[in-house]
Amino acid sequence: MKFVSQLKRTTYCGLLRASHDGLEVNLMGWVDTRRDHGGLVFIDLRDREGVVQVVLDPNGAEMKQAHEVRGEFVIGVRGKVQRRPDGMKNSKLPTGEVEVLATQLEILSEAKTPPFQINDKEVGENLRLKYRYLDIRSARLNGHLRLRHEIVRTVRETLSNDGFIEVETPILYKSTPEGARDYLVPSRVNQGTFYALPQSPQTLKQLLMIGGMDRYFQIARCFRDEDLRADRQPEFSQIDMEMSFVDQDDIMAINEKLAQTIWKKFRGIDIGPIPRMSFMEAMNRFGNDKPDIRFGLELQDLGEICQNTGFKVFDDVLAKKGTIKGIGLSQGKDFSRAQIDKLVELAKKAGAKGLVWIKVDGEGKLTSAIGKVLPEDKVREIFKRLCPEGKGTAFVVADSFEVTCAALAGLRLHLGHEMKLIDENKDAFLWVVDFPLFEYDVENKRWAARHHPFTSPQNQYIEDLKTGNEARFGEMLAKAYDLVCNGHEIGGGSVRIHRSDTQAGMFKALGLSMEEAHEKFGFFMEALQYGTPPHAGIAWGVDRLVMIIARTDAIRDVIAFPKTAKATDLMSEAPNAVSRDQLIELGIRLAPSVEAGAAR
Ligand code: AMO
Repeated sequence: MKFVSQLKRTTYCGLLRASHDGLEVNLMGWVDTRRDHGGLVFIDLRDREGVVQVVLDPNGAEMKQAHEVRGEFVIGVRGKVQRRPDGMKNSKLPTGEVEVLATQLEILSEAKTPPFQINDKEVGENLRLKYRYLDIRSARLNGHLRLRHEIVRTVRETLSNDGFIEVETPILYKSTPEGARDYLVPSRVNQGTFYALPQSPQTLKQLLMIGGMDRYFQIARCFRDEDLRADRQPEFSQIDMEMSFVDQDDIMAINEKLAQTIWKKFRGIDIGPIPRMSFMEAMNRFGNDKPDIRFGLELQDLGEICQNTGFKVFDDVLAKKGTIKGIGLSQGKDFSRAQIDKLVELAKKAGAKGLVWIKVDGEGKLTSAIGKVLPEDKVREIFKRLCPEGKGTAFVVADSFEVTCAALAGLRLHLGHEMKLIDENKDAFLWVVDFPLFEYDVENKRWAARHHPFTSPQNQYIEDLKTGNEARFGEMLAKAYDLVCNGHEIGGGSVRIHRSDTQAGMFKALGLSMEEAHEKFGFFMEALQYGTPPHAGIAWGVDRLVMIIARTDAIRDVIAFPKTAKATDLMSEAPNAVSRDQLIELGIRLAPSVEAGAAR
């Protein structure tokens, strides 16, 4: 008789069904659990498709082996599929109508006692990250990685069918600015010089348009050294695309179709046409440029009502052309003082100096700290604007436009979740358009590109950009667009500058000297002069996309080997110190203070 290990596996454990009754099978997998029941031994055998119950004949020769197996041992089983007796079926398991009566069992490899039960949902994330390969055995992570594969496959198929050509671009390259710090890689051959890992393939895909590829896409790996958040990783993937001889509407149409295809296939939903909203409208109504429009609680402007109140905070803000806005919750909750204090803290974290709150109960009784500095009529007037039903709780922030918006947007989202105002099963898409071309960097006293330096201004601003008319920089709008879903920016792109004089004007506006522009982007500026088609593009965050479809709120859940918030890998302990020899080869010497810390 052959050992099981000498036989070919005939099927996956998780695929067995009642229709396989009587089939002889060879299975290979991990021991999920082993249970002894009055002489009978049951093993739940797991592979990537799921779990099936294996039963061992108490009188069989395999019992000795069966008693030796432990959780996570890898075993091979030969046996016969049989229907489980009535009353023994497990409706929670897809294989629950059957079991496999083992005639042979062989241990293929033993396992140490794992640090956690594979499908235990209570295990801390750090432990799961350290033993990521064990976590990948879990149904949850396995499901996410397979969903990711299917989504990317659909994207590849859809774009290929639409005439896009997938082109790989280099990872060892030159700085491609997207607003983050670069990851640098020292060159051994050319000591003292560094490659930068691409923050995105932005210049490369534009060069492909100059090269005449016409429609490009890539599932591109990007690297950004920036502060991490729940939906950010230092390396992540984009569905990156670019098209020639198109305008903004063409790109939006292609991407709308892509979103519709993905949502139909993976969420079973017809999302229909995606509405558009200008950046300013999004800021004014929701306080940020990626609003979750699944619920209301919109910001109301109080600039007019709050004029000349005599309340110093309001008067000062209005005198400085700041913004006073508020939101009102008419329904539900009677906030306690402690709860309100928490909300005040939240607003302060967003940069606000304070949060004004006004509470009116069912009997019309008003409570508010600003009752001390404003006449009750005024307080009631403000309240009425925010809570027209005449009862509830209202919140007001007075600060610069940016801070007021940020604080109230944070509060709105917090309350939206806490008060369960969001239908979590719904998906709400939005195109945000008409972004400012620049934003002013107060700290460094210069203009910065809001999207990136290759984004075209809208037509009416092109001349002023070329001639460097700074007086208009603040009002210039870009041909840029973001795709937003449920409050996440899943994609962003723009029509590009395709003329070298406009591009030169842009670099100048960003404060780059001719030499700097030449050193950083000389090759690109030159390429623009050899016949550049008008072109535009966009990139989606693959990880964010999968995260939304998988209904998880951590980006790490959809990445096989993610990094922690400190950009480290807990399993391999990357990044790590390197040997002195390696540094010498690269011509690098560590600063003494760093060296002291790095010596492990
Ligand atoms: P942008 O910087 O807006 O545009 O990035 C496009 C999309 O990539 C995703 N993304 C991220 N995902 C995870 N972790 C990160 N750190 C991270 N940063 C960005 C987001 C975002 O919408 N070259 C331009 C695109 C273009 O103009 O065509 C670009 O990279 O989902």
